[in-house]
Amino acid sequence: MTELFDRRHPEPTAASGQTEVIGSQGQNRAMESLKSAIEEARGRYASANPASQAADRNAATSLPGGNTRTVLHFEPFPLTMAGGEGAELIDIDGHRYIDCVGEYSAALFGHSDPVIKAAINQALEEGVAMGAPTQYERTLAGLLCQRYPSVDQVRFCNSGTEANLMALSTARVVTGRSKLLAFRDGYHGGVIKFLGGRCALNVPFDFELADYNDIDGTAEIVDRHGDDLAAVVVEPILGAGGNIQGNREFLHMLRRKTREIGALLIFDEVKTARLGPGGVQGMIGINPDLTTLGKFIGGGLPTGAFGGSREVMEHFDPRQKGALAHAGTFNNNVCSMAAGCAALSEVYTAEFAADFLDRSEAFRLSLNEMFARTAVPMYANGLGSMIAIHFSREPTKRPGDITPGCRSLRPLLHMELLLDGMLVCTRGDLFLSLPMEESHLSRARECLERFVHRYQPLIEQVLKA
Ligand SMILES: Cc1ncc(COP(=O)(O)O)c(C=O)c1O
Repeated sequence: MTELFDRRHPEPTAASGQTEVIGSQGQNRAMESLKSAIEEARGRYASANPASQAADRNAATSLPGGNTRTVLHFEPFPLTMAGGEGAELIDIDGHRYIDCVGEYSAALFGHSDPVIKAAINQALEEGVAMGAPTQYERTLAGLLCQRYPSVDQVRFCNSGTEANLMALSTARVVTGRSKLLAFRDGYHGGVIKFLGGRCALNVPFDFELADYNDIDGTAEIVDRHGDDLAAVVVEPILGAGGNIQGNREFLHMLRRKTREIGALLIFDEVKTARLGPGGVQGMIGINPDLTTLGKFIGGGLPTGAFGGSREVMEHFDPRQKGALAHAGTFNNNVCSMAAGCAALSEVYTAEFAADFLDRSEAFRLSLNEMFARTAVPMYANGLGSMIAIHFSREPTKRPGDITPGCRSLRPLLHMELLLDGMLVCTRGDLFLSLPMEESHLSRARECLERFVHRYQPLIEQVLKA
């Protein structure tokens, strides 16, 4: 299988060929050492963050576990943030961090972009919650249609989750079929997620699941359910599942097969739309029937959108008899719409997006060069500004390739980077933002290098265990 986007993959080093048989005692020792290292790092973290610890404890009175967004919880307690500046965040104990969580990709513009702030302030001055269309949603809709090749028309909603719910429901109505095909370890929102299997809170749609990047297996499932299948929904880069690039042949097969059987192809580009001028669809020349968007398109404020061919979207034209009614009090909330307009027209123009992809991809490749040079089994998966650090010498091509050892090393990476002033997601994702300067990127690389320097033997032992 040819890889889709990866432009360069350092050759495995001599060390990667070494195998060493270690017995079960050795395995236990490696896991015990890892456990102690994590405990020790958490102890240092707790000592360094008394204000966050107290805030977390108090919050548990009125929020279950002190938390209203599960992904932000980690042991022993999360940091409480006081504010942000450019590409940095400051916590309530006064520590300053390079923000590589980047609000899981939504904070593309960082925390103080002057153009976006001015647009939000102006919208606030003009009035919010007007209960009528404004020029903002019309302008933003036009900008999105220009940007994403398959999107003739678009509708706004409040989140990426809602965008996917709307796209899936639309596919069911338009095709008159009920079955949907998604991928194991895919993530399409809080009630449409398949990370490690089906989730108890998922919407009760009739989902079939296939393996990501498995061309033959997926084709067989599509054929088997052909007449019942309303849609295939796919992330062109499997985000939460490990920032795994979709294989070009795999994505083209989905386009071909869905056409053959009359199902809709939905590209979930909620995260990947930031990659280059036209998202992944623009990069690989596939026109899905529907595309879902969110995250950065609201300039850092909450929004979501689903759009696609005129033929599909016309079902929502309220002037037509029998049109589908799509509701949502805040679908066109003016602050998000105004911020999105400024973001796409003045800050993240198509040219700028192309340039940012090149710069951030150079950074990702520089991490892989560093990992290869030090012969540590680590790899920065993903593309451009969407990166996930895996404990492996090779790029991860399928979620099934992520080993238990890799998963068990993540809390150590997360904690140590945090202690070194670099915020990353608990599962090892990094999202780059526009205000990151060369100095931020060098510091981030140095933090990872220090982690490698300190833990390389432990990493190797754990992966062998
Ligand atoms: C690919 C993908 N789709 C959908 C969503 C859901 O978006 P939201 O959190 O805005 O509901 C996410 C969120 O991380 C995502 O990564």
